[in-house]
Amino acid sequence: MTNSVFPDGFLWGGATAANQLEGAFKEGGKGLSVADAMPGGKARLDVLSSDTFDWTIDEDKYIYPNHRGIDHYHHFKEDIALFAKMGFKCYRFSIAWTRIFPKGDETTPNEAGLVFYEQVIDECVKHGIEPVITISHYEMPLHLAKEYGGWKNRELITFYERYAKVVLERFHSKVKYWMTFNEINSAFHFPALSQGMVKSTGAGDYHNVFQAWHNQFVASSKAVKIGHELNPELQIGCMIIYATTYSFDSNPVNQMATIEQNQEMNFFCADVQVRGEYPVYTKRIFDKYNVGELDIAEGELELLKDYPVDYIGFSYYMSSVVNITDEEAAKASGNLLAGLKNPFLKASEWGWQIDPVGLRIALNELYNRYEKPVFIVENGLGAIDNVDENFYVEDEYRIDYLREHIEAMADAIKDGVDIMGYTPWGCIDLVSASTGEMSKRYGFIYVDLDDEGNGTGKRYEKKSFNWYKDVIATNGSKL
Ligand code: BG6
Repeated sequence: MTNSVFPDGFLWGGATAANQLEGAFKEGGKGLSVADAMPGGKARLDVLSSDTFDWTIDEDKYIYPNHRGIDHYHHFKEDIALFAKMGFKCYRFSIAWTRIFPKGDETTPNEAGLVFYEQVIDECVKHGIEPVITISHYEMPLHLAKEYGGWKNRELITFYERYAKVVLERFHSKVKYWMTFNEINSAFHFPALSQGMVKSTGAGDYHNVFQAWHNQFVASSKAVKIGHELNPELQIGCMIIYATTYSFDSNPVNQMATIEQNQEMNFFCADVQVRGEYPVYTKRIFDKYNVGELDIAEGELELLKDYPVDYIGFSYYMSSVVNITDEEAAKASGNLLAGLKNPFLKASEWGWQIDPVGLRIALNELYNRYEKPVFIVENGLGAIDNVDENFYVEDEYRIDYLREHIEAMADAIKDGVDIMGYTPWGCIDLVSASTGEMSKRYGFIYVDLDDEGNGTGKRYEKKSFNWYKDVIATNGSKL
C-alpha cells in the first residue's frame, strides 16, 4: 500500500506458545514440562508463591488447563488456515522442548515431536506464512527442574545446546526467524516458568537467579553460533518483557530510582544478549541483591561477545510507575503485574495498565539504545469476551486497544525506529500464563472452552478478526 508508513514486507501476524495451546500433553512421546505442573486459576498463583511447592502434579486436587490447551495439536491445520484467512505474513509459535527431548537430558531426540513441528511449519509455508519460532517458551522439561534444579545448574547449557542444535539443523532451511528464550528477563517474576526454579529449590536466592541467567545467556549464544554456522541469513533474536517505566514525579530521587528499575527489569538481560557483555551497572545490581560471584567458565564471556543476537524481540502489555519516596508506593513500584496506579491510564480487567504511548516510548528506548531491529512479538488485551447466540464476540474494546498500539508503532516508525513486525499475543484464545485461565482471552478467534474445560472447543471468528484482516491487507493504513 502506497500511503502506509509500514515498510513492505512488514511481518504482521500473531503469537502463541506450545504449552498454552497445544494440549495433548502426553501424546506423541511428549514428556512433562514445568507448565504441565501449573494448576489453573487462583491455585496457580498460590503454587507459584508458596515456599514448599515441589513440582508435584495432583490431578485430584487441581485442574490443569495446559494439559488440554485448545487441542491445537489436533487442530493446527484448521487454526493456521484461519490465520491465513486473516492474511498473516508470519506466525510466532514455540517448540515444546519436551516433544523433542521428553526429559531434557536424553541424547537422541524424539522423532515424533520433530515430525509434528515439521507439519506445522509446512502448513505455514503452504499458506505463505513465515514461521517465527521461540525455542524455549516457559516449558522446559519438568525433569530438568526437579532433578537438576533448573537453570542454575550449568548442565542445562549442554541440554539446551543439544536441543537447539537439533531443531535448528532440522528446520533452518524453512525457518528464518528464531528467538532463544521467551521473556528471559521475567525470572524476577516467574522463576518457575522462566528458569525452572521454585522457592523450595532456591528461586528466592538471587545468586541462583543470576547464575541461571548467565547459563541462559551462554546457551543463547551457543544457539546463535549454531544457527549462523548453518546459515548466516538466519535472524536469531532475544525476547524480553518490556514495561515502560515512569518516575512518579520530578523528584530526582524517583528519577534515579526509575533509571535503576529500568536497568534491573528491562535492560539487564538485553544488554548482555545484544551487546555481548555485562553492563557497567552489573556490580551495583549484584551488590544490591547480594548475588556474590558467578561461576563463569573459561571462554564464556568471549562467546557472549562473539555471538550476540540479531534483533530484539519484546512483549509489551503495560507500563509501570516508580515511587520510592512513599513506603507503600515503593512496595508496589517493582511489581510488574500490578504496580502503582497511573492516574493517566485505564487498566484491563486484570489490572494491566493500558498505555499505547508507552509502546512508542519503548520502541524509541530500545532502538536508540541498541540500534538493532526491534520486533513486537507480543501485545494485546486479555479480556472477558461475551458471545451471542451465534458465538459471535463484538470485541470493540480489543480493536480499540490494538488500533491505538498500532498507531503508536506508526509514530515510532516516523521517529526512525526499525520495526520488523507485530505479532499480537494469543491470536487464537489460549490458556493464560499467569493465571491458567481460558477466560482471559486475547484472540481474534474465540475458542469455546471455559476455565474448567467445558465446551465444544470449536473456533469462531470475533469482530476483531475481520478488522485485523483489513489492517494487514492495507499494510496498517486502515485502522
Ligand atoms: C507473556 C508471555 O508474559 O504474556 C505469554 O510470554 C503470556 O506466555 C502473555 O500468555 C500474556 O500473559 P497472561 O498471563 O495474560 O497469559
